[in-house]
Amino acid sequence: MPPVGPVTYRLGREADMVTCLGVWRAAVDDYQGRLNQPPMPEETGPLRRHLVHLLATDPDRFWVAEVERTEGAAAGPWLVGFAMATVRDGLWYLAMLFVLPAVQGRGIGAGLLDRAQAGRDMPAGVPAVPGPDNAFDTRIHTWGMATDTAQPISNGLYARRGMVPRLPIWRLAGEPTRWSALPALPASLEAVSFDAIAANGHEGPRRLADVVDGIDREVIGLTHQADHEFLRRDGRAGFLVRERGGRVLGYVYGSTTGRIGPVAALDPDLLPSLLGVAIRHTPILGTAGVWVPGSADPAIRALLEAGLHFDRFPGLLCWSRPEMPFARYLPINLAMV
Ligand SMILES: CC(C)(COP(=O)(O)OP(=O)(O)OC[C@H]1O[C@@H](n2cnc3c(N)ncnc32)[C@H](O)[C@@H]1OP(=O)(O)O)[C@@H](O)C(=O)NCCC(=O)NCCS
Repeated sequence: MPPVGPVTYRLGREADMVTCLGVWRAAVDDYQGRLNQPPMPEETGPLRRHLVHLLATDPDRFWVAEVERTEGAAAGPWLVGFAMATVRDGLWYLAMLFVLPAVQGRGIGAGLLDRAQAGRDMPAGVPAVPGPDNAFDTRIHTWGMATDTAQPISNGLYARRGMVPRLPIWRLAGEPTRWSALPALPASLEAVSFDAIAANGHEGPRRLADVVDGIDREVIGLTHQADHEFLRRDGRAGFLVRERGGRVLGYVYGSTTGRIGPVAALDPDLLPSLLGVAIRHTPILGTAGVWVPGSADPAIRALLEAGLHFDRFPGLLCWSRPEMPFARYLPINLAMV
């Protein structure tokens, strides 16, 4: 590796985003290439939009690491790693942590993680403590992230801090061929689009936010309205499922690009029908893809039965507490609950 000086850490900004995506690609392709996996897709638009959203909601949890290159034409600060995390209603969640292969194993990942855990106010050299006793932000009660099963380094780094890999999360992808596995709603239930609710009078947007917050509170124990707004801006279409004229039972997002989720169900047995709503109501150009935690078994069985397949290695959900909210909830993706 090129000679480098000491590591400095600073808050990241939007202008760093393209460089950070380069670090992400180099770090992932390095270890996945050694496992004979294909390189990451060229298209990074959706990921960049996600990261810009996370920077807007959590600007003090986006950190970059730089080292001083001491020789050659490119002498000067060199961005070699970054971390991004969010806090939603007491859940701290790591979105991204990547370090260039040339400088891995020197404590840079740990230094970034310290800062993303603690936010802007961390006293130097003292790591934040996962769990209810953390010294820096007592509003945080749970710490989590999704990792790759094929990555012992990141899993080890997080588990030593109390965020233990507890639950597999699989990407299921493909074209549904057996529609009966994702059944249409029974006559007693109806699906209503988020857009229709939001467009219903000047109270519509607030009514939609209230009902979605209510489901999120009950199913995952937190609200994350900013993420819902981002999903809708980003082209995902949401649907509520409710008893006709009555109780709301869950929601699901679909999109014409095939990305499905998040999905929340008061009763896990409703997950197959919720997935059916997304697939029937949003014409998909290409294949469908959805991240499904291992504890959401009705969803896994239904999607396999419908003809989708497990895609690549599973991820692992690492969580600081033994109880996890994923039997009734399929997250947005690996970077956002
Ligand atoms: C994961 C990553 C960000 C870590 O950054 P890094 O700068 O290499 O990590 P650090 O040097 O700070 O720390 C690595 C830790 O992993 C530990 N580790 C390494 N191999 C391990 C193993 N097989 N089992 C358990 N722990 C292991 C090291 O002992 C070290 O911990 P320590 O310093 O407390 O001893 C970096 O390696 C990377 O970008 N990897 C590829 C992409 C990736 O997987 N990112 C995470 C996505 S969730």
